[in-house]
Formats: sequence, structure tokens, C-alpha cells
Amino acid sequence: MKTILYPGSFDPVTNGHLDITKRASRIFDKVVIAVAMNAEKDPLFTPPERIEMLQEVVRRLELGNVEVSMFDGLLVNALAQFQASAVIRGLRAVSDFEYEFQMALMNRELNDKCETLFMMPSPEYSFVSSRLIKEIARCGGDINPFVPPFVADCIRDKFSKH
Ligand code: PNS
Repeated sequence: MKTILYPGSFDPVTNGHLDITKRASRIFDKVVIAVAMNAEKDPLFTPPERIEMLQEVVRRLELGNVEVSMFDGLLVNALAQFQASAVIRGLRAVSDFEYEFQMALMNRELNDKCETLFMMPSPEYSFVSSRLIKEIARCGGDINPFVPPFVADCIRDKFSKH
């Protein structure tokens, strides 16, 4: 039974994250999407809100071997917590590489068993990021092409209260 851990801020989850999740779910027995509790300094959504959105979209996609959870502290410790064999991260473009490479090697320095695997999302998501989606929504732009409808509603709801 191979479990893979897919960690991130997911503030909020995007179609790009879901593309990676679907691809990983076809390869591994179990995918655990792990929301980092304290990764973002000034998040739009609380960790429970991010988990709720992820759970809802995973349920709607009928991905039976995908679970959503959260972790606090170091990623290398979360790997053991979820009995995962490795970490998966998405690489959208070369610009992601430096940060990801550094993080993967640092995690392996902290725990020699912590391997990181990279997957490329479909090119149509190569420019999609949670940060840009929040900025577009804040300025009243159309975010529908980049996030699932349920998430788009949650984002609009958030900004209508801000
Ligand atoms: O979606 P993000 O913000 O790019 O995800 C980054 C994340 C959450 C995977 C990273 O910040 C992380 O692993 N945080 C947990 C704390 C940790 O282990 N930091 C050391 C990384 S070398």
C-alpha cells in the first residue's frame, strides 16, 4: 500500500492542484492532501475552511483514494504521521524549480527517507496560482476558469464580507 503526501497551503485549492491530485490518484494507492497549518502568514481562508473546500471538491470528483487532512510543524514529521512513502509536489514552470529543489533537498537533509516526487500539471494550468486567483477576485475579475465552482463561490463570499 503506497501512500503519497501532497502538502501545500491550498489557500485556496485551484484546478491546477486538482489536476495533480487526479494524476497522483491514478498512480498511488492513497493520496493524502495535507494542508499546512501555518505556511501562509496572512491567509484568506483558515485551515478548517481550506480543508472543507478540499473535501467538498474531492467528494464531487469522486476520487475514492484521496483523503484531506492537515499538518502542523515540519513536513518531514507529517510524512511519518500519515505513513506516506514520499511527498508529491507540482511543478508548473521552470520558475517553480529553484524553490522546490531547495525544499526537497532540505527535507531530505532533515530526514534522509523524505523523497520528493514532482508532477507537471496540464499546460493549461501552468499559470494558475492561489495568489493570482485571490488578487483577481479581490479586483472583481472572473475566477471561474481557474477554480471549481464551489471554491469560486467561497472566494466571492469571502470578499463580499471583506
Ligand atoms: O503551497 P505552498 O505554500 O507552496 O506549500 C509549501 C509547504 C506548505 C509545502 C511548505 O511551506 C512546508 O512544507 N511547510 C511546513 C514546514 C516545513 O517543513 N518547512 C521546511 C521546508 S524545507
